[in-house]
Amino acid sequence: GTVVHVRISVIGCGYLGAVHAASMAKLGHDVVAVDVDPGKIERLAAGEAPFFEPGLPEILTEALASGRIRFTTDMSEVAGARVHFVAVGTPQGPTGAADLKYVDAAVASLTEHLSAGEFVVGKSTVPVGTAARLAADVSAAVPGATLVWNPEFLREGFAVQDTIAPDRLVYGVPAGPEGDAAVAALDEVYAVALAEDTPRLVVDLATAELVKVSANAFLATKISFINAMAEIAEVVGADVTALADAIGHDARIGRKFLNAGLGFGGGCLPKDIRAFQARATELGVGESLAFLADIDAINLRRRAHVVDLAAQALGGDVTGKRVAVLGLAFKPNSDDVRDSPSLDIAARLHEQGAVVAAYDPEATGTARRLHPELHYVESATEALTGADIVLVLTEWNEFRELDAATVAAAVATPVVIDGRNCLDRDAWRAAGFAYHGMGR
Ligand code: UGA
Repeated sequence: GTVVHVRISVIGCGYLGAVHAASMAKLGHDVVAVDVDPGKIERLAAGEAPFFEPGLPEILTEALASGRIRFTTDMSEVAGARVHFVAVGTPQGPTGAADLKYVDAAVASLTEHLSAGEFVVGKSTVPVGTAARLAADVSAAVPGATLVWNPEFLREGFAVQDTIAPDRLVYGVPAGPEGDAAVAALDEVYAVALAEDTPRLVVDLATAELVKVSANAFLATKISFINAMAEIAEVVGADVTALADAIGHDARIGRKFLNAGLGFGGGCLPKDIRAFQARATELGVGESLAFLADIDAINLRRRAHVVDLAAQALGGDVTGKRVAVLGLAFKPNSDDVRDSPSLDIAARLHEQGAVVAAYDPEATGTARRLHPELHYVESATEALTGADIVLVLTEWNEFRELDAATVAAAVATPVVIDGRNCLDRDAWRAAGFAYHGMGR
């Protein structure tokens, strides 16, 4: 069928918003994207992605060339769009609860330029109950305007693909004709995905908010479950990778997200499970999510474990020892170091007196901003030369493909900690390395 070109605004040009805006233009819609940060808007308007994301620069350039997207700091330019996506951040506050100041400010400012018949579509990850509150504010201020919730499940590194061809679409809408109209509008926006039979679930506002945080809580639980098995495997000399393969063959369990290692980091999983617990406690059902405290604790223990393992391998003390850190990003194909286990481990070893040489293919710039005290180098070879121990902390292909014999010739002592179980253990052992994996 023919694709209807919808006039769209996107409020917030961070990770989620920038990808969403460019993807919507890619789908043929007319997009105005707004952010309060003039520097960010300037870069985006020049076709420059403010972070590393495969495919984003291409669709951004294409969208700008076609005239289907424009970037501005002026909220009044959203006037006339029919669907307004709110994609601002919800950072972790001091108590672990999500800080809603950006969401509240964005919706308040947007409401001033809103008209009847338009839709405000929340995409940010928010504590359950936020949408109902904002929906009441919006309809009170602009009768005939409707707020709905449409959570995002994109993964960094696959963000464009996940936006254009998602696993599923979730629309949280109010009951009645306003909700029906919102469903119709979102169906126009996502016509391309729907034509591919993408499952589309229409639910109430609270369910939509919960789908997002429960999905991330489940993923975090899966990772911490296998890391708990790794802790046990380490004690008895079992192999958690073989265990994951074996249990993963049960289709009810599945092999995905059962990679033991340093655990989860990034801008979503860690903060989302904390905010979810805080919200459950506020709602008087804290007990229901008490287990997430353990999920968090197991996750953080992995980092301490690797620091201890490095110290042990270096004879009990890291002081003055040369540590090659390969990988700083919280996962490969990303320059994101928010809550990164890899960067955390590098910083702890430095603090304990180790001489750390850290390398990442994309993330040294972002890492330097958070930890300027570390010594960053330009290549894996530079990090490895003369090292007393090698720590592979993010599973970039570049590190998987390292030739163990070449590395053995470059280092001072052939000891490696494979924090992501991503190396060919036999090849590294054959090259003379003392190999330490995670849970195997
Ligand atoms: C996560 C979710 O996977 C997305 O579905 C969600 O939309 C997104 O958060 C969000 O809320 O915005 P992302 O943060 O990009 O996406 O990263 P993941 O691929 O989920 O990885 C998270 C962390 O878990 C990484 O540090 C990764 O190294 C770690 N991980 C992942 C493991 O330790 N083991 C695994 O088996 C899988």
